[in-house]
Amino acid sequence: MNGTHWTLRTVPSAGARHAFETFLLLNNVTGLAPGLYRYLALTHRLQQVDTDPAIPQRITKACFDQQFILRSGAVFLWTAVPYRMTWRYGERGYRDLHLDAGHVCQNLYLAAEAVGCGVCAIAAFDDDLMNGLLGMNGTDQFLIYLATVGKKGIRDG
Ligand SMILES: Cc1cc2nc3c(=O)[nH]c(=O)nc-3n(C[C@H](O)[C@H](O)[C@H](O)COP(=O)(O)O)c2cc1C
Repeated sequence: MNGTHWTLRTVPSAGARHAFETFLLLNNVTGLAPGLYRYLALTHRLQQVDTDPAIPQRITKACFDQQFILRSGAVFLWTAVPYRMTWRYGERGYRDLHLDAGHVCQNLYLAAEAVGCGVCAIAAFDDDLMNGLLGMNGTDQFLIYLATVGKKGIRDG
């Protein structure tokens, strides 16, 4: 962006590459229509991506039917754009992507705790199904990690 725009992040990243994009599946968030959104870091806004009522079910299926996804308030989905890392670090950049993902998700655990919420990290998902749902080819961009967030103390039936 011509050196005129930058983002300040709450997580460390190898070489400050910040190779992730964040998507959100909102199931039950006051003031926001349910659906899949993308977080726009430069403008700090959410962009609607898919409001098909079937999208939560599809994402759940792609995560091997982990039903708590449907009962969560929101799901954070982090996708990686590997070139942002590999142009500098080559193949080793893939290792950095996975280390960075751990930091990002851990920060979600910490932030959620501060507002009375709980998090569950999820790495069990079908790569092809998830990338297909997000419109990614799995090479230039792919889902790396996701996590549910929900209010503590609300028991599901
Ligand atoms: C890399 C990673 C992947 C995980 N994947 C899943 C998952 O797919 N489904 C799930 O229910 N929990 C998943 N978890 C959550 C762990 O099962 C959980 O953190 C662990 O059992 C300890 O429980 P606690 O976090 O409540 O202390 C994952 C955690 C990590 C760190």
